[in-house]
Amino acid sequence: MELKNLIDEFIEIYGEGEYRKFFSPGRVNLIGEHIDYNGGYVFPCALEYGTYAIVRERQDNILNLASTNFDLKVTSNIDNIEYLEEDDWGNYAKGIVKIMKDKGYNVGGLDILVSGNIPNGAGLSSSASLELLVAVIVNEIFNNGEIDRVELVKIGQNCENNFVGVNCGIMDQFAIGMGKEKKGILLDCNTLQYKYADVNLKEYTLVIMNSNKRRALNESKYNERRAECEEALSILKKYKNIENLCDLSTEDFVELQHFIENETVRKRAKHAVFENDRVKESFEYLNKGKVEAFGELLTQSHNSLRDLYEVTGKELDTIVAESLKVEGCIGSRMTGAGFGGCAIALVLTSKVEEFTDIVKKNYTELIGYAPDFYFSGIGDGTHEMI
Ligand code: GLA
Repeated sequence: MELKNLIDEFIEIYGEGEYRKFFSPGRVNLIGEHIDYNGGYVFPCALEYGTYAIVRERQDNILNLASTNFDLKVTSNIDNIEYLEEDDWGNYAKGIVKIMKDKGYNVGGLDILVSGNIPNGAGLSSSASLELLVAVIVNEIFNNGEIDRVELVKIGQNCENNFVGVNCGIMDQFAIGMGKEKKGILLDCNTLQYKYADVNLKEYTLVIMNSNKRRALNESKYNERRAECEEALSILKKYKNIENLCDLSTEDFVELQHFIENETVRKRAKHAVFENDRVKESFEYLNKGKVEAFGELLTQSHNSLRDLYEVTGKELDTIVAESLKVEGCIGSRMTGAGFGGCAIALVLTSKVEEFTDIVKKNYTELIGYAPDFYFSGIGDGTHEMI
């Protein structure tokens, strides 16, 4: 939706007067999957797709939420916010306001209209995008923009974990809150130290492929994987002084793996340790302009998520396999939590059109419905639009 139309709609809902405009991106993870909660490195970036908001401060304590994506409008009193199933998407915004208030930050009444162009359920973090959007709005409008950005990121994760009830790591909120145009973020999820890295893909383009399989059942599987990793960690801690699975080098792991008797748990841990290694290598390769080598690591990451971590599924495996068959594609993997949603592929820019045609045709034949393709540059993190 055009920004102008969004402003018109805002005025239609809330009446004439002043307003401010905000934007919060979605994210894609280049590599480092399912290791943020294992203290590993991840390498995500913010997208140009995202969520817009038109906002006006109110003189009372009412939080009004409307969206162009959903019919449901939500109203709450900020002195009395609780999670309500029927408030659906509004809970992400409500949770942020409640947590910020409970932490002692200034909050107040707001009229908000949001509009997102991140496809829902595609694994590009539309919910984290909304969380950071509201956190930045409250920071700018009521706190003079003085709250530290990483603190806002943590508030986003806190909202997801403790208000919405999804036990996610910090990667999505960090990528969205801290994103920078044209840069990937190499984030150490253990210390939260980070570096920006140029993502110069030379003659290649990053293609985002939506399998259009919605991520059903993924919360329970996500929590199951987390529990399996915790089990592996508690065993390995007896033999090595570590705090997180990703503190282990691949050599350490090979030496210690026999202590994990359960094969499934051993596989999960192996993925975490080797994926962490691939992230560090990817960063080096990209720095040196070795895009082909980076592409190979993407494919290795997918294979590990398929065979060891088992979070891919038929649709993601098909789209990745079909993409790798096309000339000019040098790497492909699922991205995000898995079980559906998106994959990414690195494709020769001159072959991209052919690539999407072929993958679309073959995927549709095999799965029964078509995928979508997105081309997004790497954008800035959540910000006020001036
Ligand atoms: C989801 C979670 C993230 C991360 C990824 C997997 O996106 O929200 O914290 O664990 O899955 O890498």
